[in-house]
Amino acid sequence: MAAKIFMDMPGGLRMPAIGLGTWQATDDSELETALNAALEIGYRHIDTAFVYQNETLPMNGIHEDRVEMFMKKSLENLQLDYVDLYLIHFAVGVKYFEGQVRPSLDDVQTEKSDHIAIWKKMEEQVDAGRTKTIGISNFNAKQIEKIIKNSRIKPACLQVELHVYLQQRELVKFCHQNGIVVVGYSPLGSPGYNNFIANFGQKPRQLPDMLHDAVIKKIAEKHKKSNAQIMLRYLLQNSIVPIPKSVTPARLKENIDIFDFSLDSEDMKSLDDLEVGEEARVCDFKLYPA
Ligand SMILES: NC(=O)c1ccc[n+]([C@@H]2O[C@H](COP(=O)([O-])OP(=O)(O)OC[C@H]3O[C@@H](n4cnc5c(N)ncnc54)[C@H](OP(=O)(O)O)[C@@H]3O)[C@@H](O)[C@H]2O)c1
Repeated sequence: MAAKIFMDMPGGLRMPAIGLGTWQATDDSELETALNAALEIGYRHIDTAFVYQNETLPMNGIHEDRVEMFMKKSLENLQLDYVDLYLIHFAVGVKYFEGQVRPSLDDVQTEKSDHIAIWKKMEEQVDAGRTKTIGISNFNAKQIEKIIKNSRIKPACLQVELHVYLQQRELVKFCHQNGIVVVGYSPLGSPGYNNFIANFGQKPRQLPDMLHDAVIKKIAEKHKKSNAQIMLRYLLQNSIVPIPKSVTPARLKENIDIFDFSLDSEDMKSLDDLEVGEEARVCDFKLYPA
């Protein structure tokens, strides 16, 4: 089974079919070393975010009055005139207090978001040349449909949690039918997630451990690959763009070295059957108030 090296986005743009995640990579020198290694190895798709302190539209920017301000802040931080793709990070915004850049969790107060008004401001960012195109993250099919119906520029991509245990097939199908590229975050199950929640005084959670899953291991041995490579290749063959994060050069190489083999239909079926569903979701955003 073939896997594309680029995914076509609306408007004739193309997205490299594997990207690099950068969440929890905030140590400047570690990130610099990882980015240099990644660019040498061949990564050309890098996911950053304002809330990762290395830059998408943050939760307190998810309001029509603040899209442009935060887009400009991100360009300034990245020292760029434009980005290729700019996303709304969440479907829910939080209140903004004058001068505040990144709200601490104690300050977070969610507010009602007008997705259409926000999207119109996102479209203006394309018109102004600050981003080539725009997309969304953590939106559901109903929310996406509303944007599609009311937009001049369609969402180019949806970024959501996707891995072998959380396959979100209906959502993926809906996006593909509407020409939206699906980008899968936490494609390895985000094994570092407990370090993140520990920063907020939360107890570690039992996380899905696909890197040691016996079914995946058997397939990995058959292809002389690692569990991580099988999990990433599985997403690619389902036309999903994985964005694994690593700051470890050997893993950066391992994670992109997935274009020289194919999973056969038997492998794909075994991996399909590993679907757990919602219980396997790692990033449940329960840290934020409802
Ligand atoms: N839009 C959103 O709301 C959202 C939410 C979550 C994530 N994201 C994006 O998606 C990216 C990826 O998700 P993620 O960071 O949650 O999790 P992930 O990519 O599933 O896992 C990253 C973790 O796995 C380790 N790792 C990487 N490659 C490995 C390999 N080959 N073998 C074993 N371990 C490996 C990394 O360690 P080392 O770094 O130490 O190598 C890191 O601890 C994020 O960095 C971020 O850019 C977006």
